[in-house]
Amino acid sequence: MMRRDLLQLALTAAALAPLAGRVGAGVSDPWSAAFAAALEERPWLLGYLGCEDRDYAATAQVEGAWPAALAGRLYRNGAGLHEFGDWRYRHLFDGDGLVQSWHFPGGGDGGQVRHHARLVATRKLTRERAAGRRLLPAFGSLPPAVEGITGADDLNVANISVLPRKEGLLALWEAGSPWALDSDTLATRGPVTFSPQTRGLPFSAHPRLEPDGQLWNFGYVTGADKLVLWHFGADERLRRCVVRDVPRIGIPHDFMVTARYLLIVLPPLAVAADGEGALIDRLQWEPQRATRVLVIRKSDLEVEAELELPAQWIFHHGNAFEDGSGVIRFESARAPDPGLMTQHLRELMRGVDADWTAVASRWHHYRLDLEAGTASEEVVDQRLVEFPGVLPRHVGSRHPEVVLLGRDADRQAAHGGLDQVCVFDAERGSWSSWRYPDTQLPEEHLPVAGADGSRWILGTALDWSAGRSLLNVFRLDDVAAGPVASARLPYALPLGLHGRFLAA
Ligand SMILES: [Fe+2]
Repeated sequence: MMRRDLLQLALTAAALAPLAGRVGAGVSDPWSAAFAAALEERPWLLGYLGCEDRDYAATAQVEGAWPAALAGRLYRNGAGLHEFGDWRYRHLFDGDGLVQSWHFPGGGDGGQVRHHARLVATRKLTRERAAGRRLLPAFGSLPPAVEGITGADDLNVANISVLPRKEGLLALWEAGSPWALDSDTLATRGPVTFSPQTRGLPFSAHPRLEPDGQLWNFGYVTGADKLVLWHFGADERLRRCVVRDVPRIGIPHDFMVTARYLLIVLPPLAVAADGEGALIDRLQWEPQRATRVLVIRKSDLEVEAELELPAQWIFHHGNAFEDGSGVIRFESARAPDPGLMTQHLRELMRGVDADWTAVASRWHHYRLDLEAGTASEEVVDQRLVEFPGVLPRHVGSRHPEVVLLGRDADRQAAHGGLDQVCVFDAERGSWSSWRYPDTQLPEEHLPVAGADGSRWILGTALDWSAGRSLLNVFRLDDVAAGPVASARLPYALPLGLHGRFLAA
């Protein structure tokens, strides 16, 4: 693809943003008032209040014995600033990225854990801070009197995940460029351009880092029906970036790699070319259409096969691998439709806490038979699950276990979220789990390896009753015993999305 076309494509990404529509600008925002009233009744909603527009820093109070082999940093990201300029965002995914660093430099050396959190000073937040109010549309929100944009990065809030790289810590969104931060201070440097030809192309928040250091990622441009594929060498240099036409691409959030393939799963979620409101108002679920699975060869980045599954919605995949008999297997948290995103996580922002069990995801196994050209699926368990992860050394090959957040389907939780950290033993087909106290809301938990190869789980949670966020460490091989150590902060942070562990 010629450079001119790539630049045009980056501009076409601006089609993601609706420019039409006006909401009456009021002095007092009804969503903010409704949320404040709901928070009085249900204090666990503290997790969705949002952070203040300031830096956070503290030395955490450690209880238990921090593992000596576990030294490094846990970086996390998530929507942080939900309210700004007397206006509250209408969707949980819209808030500006709040990047956190949990730093445990000494392993067992006194168990000191230092925490730091800063908002990513994107172009968008910088403009809005200067104006003292929201100026630009977001995925699920349309503030009063929005301004025009010139490209997707004008809307980039860098709020989904992180990726530690040589050029710094990258804060990842999914419809635009990564935003680079200083790995120590978390100070914002600016958008990253991997090459002049790829400026502004979308780089998703779920890159897959292989054990040998190669990195793969995808991006999508909904308005132009384009798929972008990225490949970096172990030296972190960009090897290839290609753009493919994929009709009705929708908004795929995650993807997978195997030894020879990239897998992109495309749920039947259409995006209307134009219309009033925010992007979320232009999404159309089409359950009569199939979910498509693109099997793309790593060798030439061409599509080898397109297989079909029943209509379904998947935010996150666990892992994929080739099983040696011509079959690709993968595992994902599968929901019947995107109702959690299109309804529940929107209403939550004004404090409405509906039962979302019917649109929750469950753990599923999939088989792609390339020779027969068929795809099949089976449900593994009835518990509600999200945030699956495997140890970094197993990405793209057969994995012994998956770590997830879960909740028993028949349990009415004391709060609106998931309440267990689970380990699914993929070889035995068995589960083990530890249920959080009812006063705590867990976030994504990551399986990580210590310097000596020991296996751990790192996971954050919000103790909403105490108004404190915390970080727990579990033994991966005995999660049911509960955390071996906890580090508690003197403040509460909003519930976020994804993180990565960087060993010291
Ligand atoms: Fe995600």
